Amino acid sequence: MSKKLRIGIIGTGGIAKAHISAYKKLDYVEIVGVADVIPGKASAFAQKEGLTEAASFDSHTNLLHLDLDGVSICTPNVSHHVTTVDSLRSGKNVLLEKPMSVTLQEGIDMTQAAKESGKMLTLGFQPRYDPNMKLLQTIVQSGRLGNVYYVETGGGRRRGMPGGTFISKQLAGAGAMADIGCYSLDMALNTLGYPRPLTVSAFTSNHFGTNALYHPEASKFEVEDFGVAMVRFENDLVLQFKISWAMHMDTLGATMFLGTDAGLKVTPAGTGPWSGVWDGSVGSITLFHDEFGGHTATPVPLVEHKLNLFDQKVHDFAEAVRDGRPAPIPGEQILIQQAIIDGVLRSAAARREVSVELPR
Ligand SMILES: NC(=O)c1ccc[n+]([C@@H]2O[C@H](COP(=O)([O-])OP(=O)(O)OC[C@H]3O[C@@H](n4cnc5c(N)ncnc54)[C@H](O)[C@@H]3O)[C@@H](O)[C@H]2O)c1
Repeated sequence: MSKKLRIGIIGTGGIAKAHISAYKKLDYVEIVGVADVIPGKASAFAQKEGLTEAASFDSHTNLLHLDLDGVSICTPNVSHHVTTVDSLRSGKNVLLEKPMSVTLQEGIDMTQAAKESGKMLTLGFQPRYDPNMKLLQTIVQSGRLGNVYYVETGGGRRRGMPGGTFISKQLAGAGAMADIGCYSLDMALNTLGYPRPLTVSAFTSNHFGTNALYHPEASKFEVEDFGVAMVRFENDLVLQFKISWAMHMDTLGATMFLGTDAGLKVTPAGTGPWSGVWDGSVGSITLFHDEFGGHTATPVPLVEHKLNLFDQKVHDFAEAVRDGRPAPIPGEQILIQQAIIDGVLRSAAARREVSVELPR
């Protein structure tokens, strides 16, 4: 491609800066427009980020009138739906920040819009680019574990609740289960090859977020800060995942894959309050198996790397658009975990197990 790739940014808050920083490292990309619903915010952002050539808009629909090859969508969760569908329908490829959306129907609309427009919808799960996440997938998909029948994953911050748009039902739609639960689910499900979920039984709570002792914006806290869910899949596979933004505990335990021939245990690299394997920081992988009648635990050597995972995801999107490759992390795949998150919210509200309504 001789002409530069023309990119727009929708939503100019915290994470948009990381997208800009990654795009700036690519000489074949130019950021030609930015948009934010708060009047004047996009132009102030463009100025601050040194995007002197970029046009600024107070709505994503005006930005979409530009001739663009792709957009990064960096708005709060609830507006992922309208911004993604409008972008795809106007012929733009989309890199959408996680989580995909709040409800399953929103995810279905997005994937439908991608299909009808022939444009790419890819999701921003940067932990996928960690070589050790890929190693997990290689081990499990090699068949070394035999038939995997139980997976436990998730992770917990002892204290790590965000504020602002993340705690508003109207803007975020959901709390910890969507915010960091989506990473945890992607790690487990991508490792397993995204099996098809059937039912979800979930519990959520917000004892910390709504307590002024623990959160400065307690009166505005409307989402869950803790959740646990049991998910049944086809082929007698069960997954349990637990997520916490805040708790009186150091950890919610390791990630584990139990198979008929071997088991795999994964622990995070950090031990601090924000550590979790879901964010792409694997500390150890251990294979549990029997050898000559004895119980054996074999450490799997980790891949050392200095990759900037965030840059990797933005660069992979830009390259895929430039080279006409398929979406690196396709919307149709992430729809499967969106169906689980939708089921978690419905099950927790109904206080019973619910079916996962994923279209065939
Ligand atoms: N991948 C990651 O590591 C990571 C990290 C943080 C946040 N995120 C995700 O990125 C998204 C944004 O998070 P953030 O921290 O930047 O939030 P933020 O609140 O700092 O910024 C969001 C911006 O979007 C704007 N906005 C809202 N609706 C809009 C619309 N329809 N059109 C244009 N602009 C609109 C808001 O005014 C705000 O300026 C969230 O979905 C979040 O989950 C991802």
